[in-house]
Amino acid sequence: MDELTIFGVPGSLRQNAYSTSLLEAARELAPKDARIEIGDIRGFPVFNQDDENDAPAPVRKFQEAARAADAILFALNEHNYGLSAAEKNAIDWGSRPYGQSAWDGKPAGLMSASVGMLGGARAQYELRQSMVFLNMFPINRPEVIVTFAPQKFDAHGRLTDETARKMITGHLSELVRFTRVLKHSH
Ligand SMILES: Cc1cc2nc3c(=O)[nH]c(=O)nc-3n(C[C@H](O)[C@H](O)[C@H](O)COP(=O)(O)O)c2cc1C
Repeated sequence: MDELTIFGVPGSLRQNAYSTSLLEAARELAPKDARIEIGDIRGFPVFNQDDENDAPAPVRKFQEAARAADAILFALNEHNYGLSAAEKNAIDWGSRPYGQSAWDGKPAGLMSASVGMLGGARAQYELRQSMVFLNMFPINRPEVIVTFAPQKFDAHGRLTDETARKMITGHLSELVRFTRVLKHSH
């Protein structure tokens, strides 16, 4: 079977971010027929439509990798009950210029982690709402919501919580299955 490429979108600029560690765990747990490439959102300016046809190099690299991927995997944290500004900014850059959105028609996985007891669930709902306009197809089950993050990762940022690792394995398996269904439908 041909290998699928899943493009991982980080949600945090923080070093040792829990949400980025989720992408690293996903890379480790990915099914054999899929490869996860983790994007880099550092150095992105705040989106300005005046610059959308002349995006800086880190943004162009991100857009090209996202466009080339078969599926997208978003790692979310939660800032003030919503998406972090860094993540929303990366999503906005990826959606432009009009007609060249990197997200259009793609299946999407979502994983979130937070230090709090809701694990970034509110940010997931915000992104799911945006996905209507982005024309993305989110995986619904199993959800990946990692609560009380400091208890779930070791000192090196490795996800050690078995339940969370199982959620990621299940989510990725569904993402790969659904991506293949979509690919073979046209
Ligand atoms: C500005 C700010 C707002 C935050 N708001 C929330 C929030 O609404 N819900 C939540 O669960 N955690 C919130 N947190 C805590 C984050 O979950 C925590 O900082 C987490 O480690 C950020 O994710 P990261 O490790 O991927 O950077 C907030 C943190 C900051 C700095």
